[in-house]
Parts: sequence; C-alpha cells; structure tokens
Amino acid sequence: CGIVGYIGRQKASTIILEGLKRLEYRGYDSAGIAIQNDGRFDLAKKAGRVEGLIKATPAQKLAGTTGIGHTRWATHGGVTDANAHPHISSDQKIALIHNGVIENYASIKKFLVTKGYTFQSETDTEVLCNLIAYHYQKEPATSEGSRFLESVRKTLRHVQGTYGIAVMCGDCPAEIVAARKGSPLILGVGDGEYMLASDVSAIISRTQNVVYLKDGEVVHLTAKSFSISTLDAEDVSPVIDKITWNIADAELGTYTHFMEKEIFEQPAALENTMRGRFSEDGSTAQFGGLNISAVDLRQVDRIHFLACGSAWHSCLVTEHLIEHFARVPVEVDYASEFRYRNMPLGNNTLFFTVSQSGETIDTLAALREAKRKGYKVLAVSNVVGSTIAREADGGVYQHVGPEIGVASTKAFTSQILLGAMLGLYLGRMRDMSFSDGVEIVKALKGAPDLVRRTLEQAPHIKAIAQRYAHFHDFLFLGRLSLFPVALEGALKLKEISYIHAEGYPAAEMKHGPIALISEKCPSVFFVSSGEMFHKVISSMQEIKARKGPIIAIATEACELPEGLADEVIRIPECHEAVLPVVATVPVQLLSYYIADALKRDVDKPRNLAKSVTVE
Ligand code: G6P
Repeated sequence: CGIVGYIGRQKASTIILEGLKRLEYRGYDSAGIAIQNDGRFDLAKKAGRVEGLIKATPAQKLAGTTGIGHTRWATHGGVTDANAHPHISSDQKIALIHNGVIENYASIKKFLVTKGYTFQSETDTEVLCNLIAYHYQKEPATSEGSRFLESVRKTLRHVQGTYGIAVMCGDCPAEIVAARKGSPLILGVGDGEYMLASDVSAIISRTQNVVYLKDGEVVHLTAKSFSISTLDAEDVSPVIDKITWNIADAELGTYTHFMEKEIFEQPAALENTMRGRFSEDGSTAQFGGLNISAVDLRQVDRIHFLACGSAWHSCLVTEHLIEHFARVPVEVDYASEFRYRNMPLGNNTLFFTVSQSGETIDTLAALREAKRKGYKVLAVSNVVGSTIAREADGGVYQHVGPEIGVASTKAFTSQILLGAMLGLYLGRMRDMSFSDGVEIVKALKGAPDLVRRTLEQAPHIKAIAQRYAHFHDFLFLGRLSLFPVALEGALKLKEISYIHAEGYPAAEMKHGPIALISEKCPSVFFVSSGEMFHKVISSMQEIKARKGPIIAIATEACELPEGLADEVIRIPECHEAVLPVVATVPVQLLSYYIADALKRDVDKPRNLAKSVTVE
C-alpha cells in the first residue's frame, strides 16, 4: 500500500493526489484522501484506481493545506469504498491511513464496542483509528498537540502487528503524527513543507532531503517543524539523507509503460550496477559495502540466499554462478518458508537477502530470523535506505534507478549480474586463476552491449507475441542457469498477461508437464551452444513429436534442425557469466508484448503489488 501526507503552505490535495499516482504501483485496489478543514475532515475515498478518485473528487472541496492519502492493496476486508483509507473515528476526531496488519484487532474492537465506538468497515485500520480516538479522549488535556501525540504513542504500545501510519486530529488542524513498525515510512523535508510517504517516488518532485524513519519511531509534524521520538517519548535526533534519484527516473518519458521503459533501460542499468566495481588489474570484482573481511569471507563454507518472487529466481541463477565460479555450496530459500523452517545450519554460513524494494516483509523477517540465530546477513537491494538495506550487516546496492512496473525487469537482470560478480569475487579468493578472472570481467563489461543487441529483436518478438497471444498455456524450458530464467519467463507471462505458464528444467518436462503438450500449448525453449545443446534439442524433439508449437530463444551459433522450432529468437553468443542476463531479455519482451496485445494493464496487473509489506 502507499502512504502520502502533506503539511505546508500549498494545497495539500493536489500534492497528495500526485503522490498517490506515483505510489500506485504499491497497491491499487482503492484510494482515498482526507484534508483538514477547520476541525473537520474533508474525505474522499473510492474502490478502484487513483484516477477514479481524482475524477470523483471536486477540487474545490479539498482546499486545506494539511492532509493524508492512501492507495490500498487489500488484506483485511474486501475492495469497497468503505474499506478504503483514510478511516475516521466514530467520534469524528481522528483520521488515519495505515499500511500493515494489526494482529490483535479483534480483541481491541470488542473492547471499543463496549465503550460506544462504532465501525463502518471490516478493517483492522478502523480499529486502530478508534483506539487512538479513545486514548485521545482519555488523555489529560495538556496542550492539544502533545495530547494528540501521546494518544498515538499509547495506542501503538497496545497493538501487535505491523504498521506505517499517518494520523490527523480534528483539534490540531496543522499537525500530523506518523509512525512505523515493519512498514516503510519516509519523511520529506521541503522548503516550508513536509511530506510523508511510503517510498521516495512520491516525494522526489518536491524535495530530495529525506529522513528514513526507523521501526518504533514516531514523527510529529507541524507546518513549521518536525520532531522524532520513540514510543516511550525519548527524543531521536534525525539524520537527513539526500535522494540520488531524480524525477525523470520515475517518469515515463516517451514510453507507453514503465515495464517497457525499464526493459529498454537495461543496458544503462547494468552499467550502473557495475560502475566502480572491478579491481584495477581487471581480474576480479570489488564491493565497498560488504562489511566482511577477506579473511572472514575465505572461511565461509556455505552461502544461503533468501528472497521472494523474481528476486528468488535471481538467487537461483546466482546459485549456479557462485557454485560454478567459486565452488562454494549455495542454498536458496523462499524467505517466507525459511522463517518457519527448522533447518540445520552450519557454523560458517553466510546469509544474503535479495530484495529490489528492500521492504518485502517476508524477506525482512527472514533476515531478522537469520540474524537472531547469530549469522551475518548481507543484502542486495535497489533502494538506498530501505529497511532491509539498513538492517543487514552490509551489502550491495543495485543502482538501477526506481523500478515502477510491478513486474520486475531491470532489477532482476541487475541481481543476476551481481550474482556473477559475487561468484567472480569469491572465486578469485579461492581457486580461480588470474586469466579466468580477466576473461569473466571482460564478459561482464560486455553485458550491456549484448543486451542492447538483443533489444534490437524487439519488433521480431512483438510479431511473435501477436501470433501467440491467444494461447492459454505456455511452458518455459531451460537447463542449468537458464532453468531459473525459464521460471522467470513463466512468472512474467503469468503476472502481466494472466496466461497460465510453468517453468521447468527442459529434461524434467518429460516427467509430467509433457502431458500438457498439444498444438494448444506452446513451449519456449532456451538453447545455447555447449554441453547442453544436444540434450535440449532432444527435449524439443519430444515436444515436436506431440505437435507442441515451439519458440526457441537460441544463441547465434546454435544450428537448429530444420523445421524443429516454429519461431526462433536469436541472442548473441556469450560467456556463461552473462548468458542468463542476455537470455532474460527476450522473455521480458515476449510477455510484455503478449500482455499489451491482450490489452492488459501491464504496469498494474490485477491482484499484485510492487512491494508486499504484509506477511
Ligand atoms: C512482489 C512483486 C514481485 C517481486 C517480489 C519481491 O511480489 O510483485 O515482482 O519480485 O514482490 O520483491 P522485492 O522488492 O523483495 O524484490
């Protein structure tokens, strides 16, 4: 979900609605806004997109200079106008927006009902809102501002669960109180104004100065100042950071969709991921922020990766690359499973969490679990200052700029490139020779250009996509490091076109999925020259014998038997260190163009959210 708050001299609704549009990728089931108006709240909320809210909201109604807004990804309660945020307490005193889940809401609700509070929605958020109102009424009347702040603190001390909240009080027309625990929240410090947001894309059009709030912190905003404290009212000195992204990074420019923009941005994104990260002698990678000595790294005898979604696929590619280059055993787990598994772990295991947003709650919880068990946990993330980046013991930033399309593209390829670089780095401190290192560095540096050449296939891939958009099932098949790329290809297609697709190791296909094969189920094969070439060709023959249509993504030197593939997409011959990066590009384009041909909402596919900050 997305949170925006504004307090300053401008018309708050204009700024909040613009911020909500930029944050919509975090959730787009419903949206709402509340503006302070002389002790009352002007409220508008609606199921559906932010655009619908804007259309339904007469601009003259929302004139105030203090307000909060929200875009929702439903957890508790269906997608209805009533369940949209902001929520207003039944005594009309408190307005609240909330990301996260309040676990003990049922018992609190029971208590509040006995105190006469009433409820309009089924959400845990409305319970939180009424509990603040309850504490506000009970709080001794010192100054209204501190009474308001203390009632929020008191409420949060009673709730279990996660939250990022922004709250307004009718008695305090130029104040907002906000707090976080397990859900991201950022304070933008502008010129005579403050903004709150769940991520920087809502803020960068107004300021580049931000404070990344930490779990357990509460910020109190007035039009002129802000202060940060803990739930126990201890003061916290704020650290103001500078955002390095600029506004153009978060805008479409000449592209139709963010996903399209981000696919085509990959050559530059990969350059940025690698910048400054090779040793002077050109034989290895170097990382400034790993925060682990070479001596300690040398002792590591197992690396355990934790991630979700596309990031999890990137870890599976990394597993191949690290094991191949550095001969260190690698384990990859879904973050959500790792937390609850009781697996035996070795002593010299190093953990890595991989998360584009750095906010995925399952990944964050897995990171905390590994740390609690006493392990060092490093992170790969794209978002500077994100919770995962901050809580990790060290790590690597991807530097690919904001990824707005819900389906991950440039962040995924950048993660696998970093996987290859880590493999190289670890390999060079073990058995890998200088000359093998030099060869890999050269290959990695060439990746942006190979991706550029692959992107030139876009019109050809678009034409294929239009011919195949009417199919209802696809298989994606690859081997070794291209098996996870097949998983990613299937995921991309599912996510944005809603077509059923499965990724499989090519040879495993005959142990089950082959039952699906008919002229109605196309298979996308990854074919590269080398030891697996003939094996993959055999798998293709098995599909062909059963009349399955075949789309082959093949490196240039592969000579495919005449008539075997119905469609061929050529990619450059490349080193194994960069092959998975290059091979990903055609499946990104294929899914993008299929989804576009089906007129799907590519950047905001149904039911998904970019960053899932609930368990
Ligand atoms: C969501 C997104 C996926 C993403 C996953 C992990 O489910 O829809 O595209 O891969 O979260 O996100 P992260 O930010 O942790 O990489």
